[in-house]
Amino acid sequence: MTATGIRDFARWKREGRRFVCLTAYDAPTARILEGAGVPMILVGDSVANVVLGYPSTVSVTMDEMLHHTAAVRRGAPKSFVIGDMPFGSYQISSEEAVRNAARFLREGQADAVKIEGARITTIERIVAAGIPTMGHLGLTPQNATQLGGLRVQAADATSARRLLDDALALERAGAFSIVLECVPEEVAAIVTERLSVPTIGIGAGRRCDAQVLVLHDLIGISSGFSPKFVRAYTDVEDRIAGAVRAFQEDVESGDFPGEKEIFGMPSEELGTLRRLLEERESEDKGGAS
Ligand code: KIV
Repeated sequence: MTATGIRDFARWKREGRRFVCLTAYDAPTARILEGAGVPMILVGDSVANVVLGYPSTVSVTMDEMLHHTAAVRRGAPKSFVIGDMPFGSYQISSEEAVRNAARFLREGQADAVKIEGARITTIERIVAAGIPTMGHLGLTPQNATQLGGLRVQAADATSARRLLDDALALERAGAFSIVLECVPEEVAAIVTERLSVPTIGIGAGRRCDAQVLVLHDLIGISSGFSPKFVRAYTDVEDRIAGAVRAFQEDVESGDFPGEKEIFGMPSEELGTLRRLLEERESEDKGGAS
């Protein structure tokens, strides 16, 4: 049983308590997030570009997502873990979407799933199957090409109105929260005011109920492009490179391993070993002559 759940998130919204959600893709990172008190961990399909080296999120598969989700659960047994449904896992039919969402709970041990886009019927069916579901509107990277690239969405009145209608429809379908990605702050504020479930903003300004970031962006491990909405709090990439360079220098200079990093043998045993070796070598010489 996780420490916090969807009722807590709704209550936090009512109380005006802001909170964070962060991505994790492996057990040690999930352990760090749980230890730091992060209440919501997203195993994002961003694992595709951030960790697996794919060019976009479209390439990651259900099996890969489940592999990472299960690892995150092992690292963070008490956290609320959300598995991100990958491209192709929910578009074909609602039946297949429910089956795949159920795999996240059964095989990945997730608490909930996230689905991109205004997939109202699909989300209704998944929620009806008893699976908590997070929506995701605005910039939805899985169909970035259709949206004209990784750019701000709902920037004009008509598309902002559509975004609000979609958000309200997702809430009615049973979504317990909605990610708003890359939308103007004013639009995110209007949506946030009109929903009773929390909005989780990423590039959606200051008035969402919660904020989500890709952890690697926050700690300064870049996968190339860094969006405007990211704030890096440290530079882990630089620190890793520094540690690796120092290790290389120490190996090359003979400083590593040092006295503290080796296992020794008792001198008595070493003496016996040397004698045994001498005996064998002289036997070998005798046999050869
Ligand atoms: O995959 C992901 O990491 C996401 C977040 C950025 C919301 O969908």
